[in-house]
This record gives sequence, structure tokens and C-alpha cells, in this order.
Amino acid sequence: MTSDSARLEAPAKINLTLHVTGRRPDGYHLLDSLVVFADLGDVIDMTGGANLSLTVSGPFASGVPTDQRNLVWRAAEAAGLTGAIKLQKNLPHGAGIGGGSSDAAAILRHAGRPDLAPGLGADVPVCLRPEAQRMTGIGAELTALVGLPAFPAVLVNPGAHLPTPAVFQALERPDNAPMTKLPGEDQDLTGWLDWLALQRNDLEAAARHLAPVVGEVLATLQAQKGARVVRMSGSGSTCFALFEQASQATAAAKWIGNAQDDWWVRAVTCNPNGPRRVGVS
Ligand code: C5P
Repeated sequence: MTSDSARLEAPAKINLTLHVTGRRPDGYHLLDSLVVFADLGDVIDMTGGANLSLTVSGPFASGVPTDQRNLVWRAAEAAGLTGAIKLQKNLPHGAGIGGGSSDAAAILRHAGRPDLAPGLGADVPVCLRPEAQRMTGIGAELTALVGLPAFPAVLVNPGAHLPTPAVFQALERPDNAPMTKLPGEDQDLTGWLDWLALQRNDLEAAARHLAPVVGEVLATLQAQKGARVVRMSGSGSTCFALFEQASQATAAAKWIGNAQDDWWVRAVTCNPNGPRRVGVS
């Protein structure tokens, strides 16, 4: 790698909870969400140069634009970065796990321009620091959380593309209760899972209405041995299950992958201090 080249990692964002607590006059919704990041993500390789170019590879490259419609392009342009950007798309997109937002945040981190994040989308600010955070307001009010354990998890995406605006539009009521009081710093994994099981993703019913397969994914995860919390992430269609032990997550991922070979299924760990290294498959 030359001095002006860099490899950036853009981990998957998981909303362990997503409470919708209100709607602003401009249509944006107020949220109360606990966000962590998985050790799996997209990878971006940058090489210096006078002109900006973007190429996309990887298992989810199909249909990803390589121009201004791509958040990576918009982030680079806004930050004044030029050169060749190679984006390896390992995460399903339009999938509730922040693929495009995490990619854009990685570019802004690299450029030293975190101030540009809110202008690129409500989920971009939280992705600037891939660590456990509580997200309120429309997404830009962030509080770092300490004392969370690492969560062994399984992610499942059935291939249904759910546009975020459509899911918010299908929401029956925007004025739901925020999260209950968060566990203290001394709480262990079991205590956190007990608390998480009582929280919600308020977009789940709307997503299931638009894509009934989401209900099928949730039921499949619920049936897995050791699954303690089963929920959708973001506006879907990716859902997750949390387990006490990594071996249970691995076994569940194997079982679901065998039963549903057209679903994307991965066993991951959500580390509260951010992924040590982002896997690509
Ligand atoms: O900001 P971003 O472009 O990611 O948001 C996409 C859409 O999702 C918005 O246009 C809006 O319809 C919906 N949204 C919302 N409230 C939020 C975040 C997103 O209503 N807090």
C-alpha cells in the first residue's frame, strides 16, 4: 500500500432496540435505540489520485450504484477526497444493518470530517464510532454506553428489500414508550439479555406487513436453541437472535443456513468496544 492508500472497514450496525417515540413536523421520527456493531462488514480500499472513481465488488455488488447515488461517493465528494475507491459489498443493502451509512461513515472518519455525517443520512452519525451507543432524536444525538458485554448473535436476511421511508410510513403510531431504564455497568450478559428481551423494535409490525417473510425469519430465529432475544434490526429486513454462548450462535446459523439456502445467515459477535477486525464473509 502506498502512503496515500488506505483500507477502511465498515461494520454492520445492529439496532438491539429501536423504539419510535414521536414524529417531527418534517416527517422524521424520534427514536430511542441501542446500537452495536458486528465483526462483519464492507471493506473500502482507497488509492490516491486526481479524480474520484468508484468500483463495487463482492457478493452484494449487484445493483449498487457507482456514482452520486452512492453514499460513499457523496461522502467523498463532500469531504473533498479524490482517487479510486474500491468498495467490497459484503453486507446486504437496504437491509436495516446500515451498509451504506457505515460505508459513508468510514469515508468521513478517514477524511477527518465527522461534521458532514448528519447531512448524509440519519444513520451515518452513529456509524462514525462503531461502538455501543444510545441513539436518540432522529439519530444524531448519541451517548456512548459502557458496561455492555459482547453479544454472540446470528444475523438473517431473507433477501427482501425494505425501503426505510416505506417502513416508517407504514408505522401505525409514532408515539411509543422509550426504552426502560438501562442496566447498570455491573450487569452481566444474562442480565443484559433479560433486559433486552423486554424492549422492542417498533418498526417490526410495519416491516412484517410490507414483507411477510420477516415474520418467518423471526419465527425461525425464535425456534433456535438458546435464542434469548429475537428482533429485527433497523427498518429490516435483517433480523437477529442473541445467545449466551458463541457455540449456540454458530449452531443456529448452521441449522438455518441448511434449512433456507436462499437466506443470508451469519454468526457474529457484537463487541461493545467495536469489532477488533471486520470479517468479510
Ligand atoms: O436520513 P435517511 O435518508 O437515512 O432517512 C431515510 C428515510 O427514513 C427518511 O426520509 C424518513 O422517511 C425515514 N426516517 C425517519 N426518521 C428517522 C430516520 C429516517 O422517518 N429518524
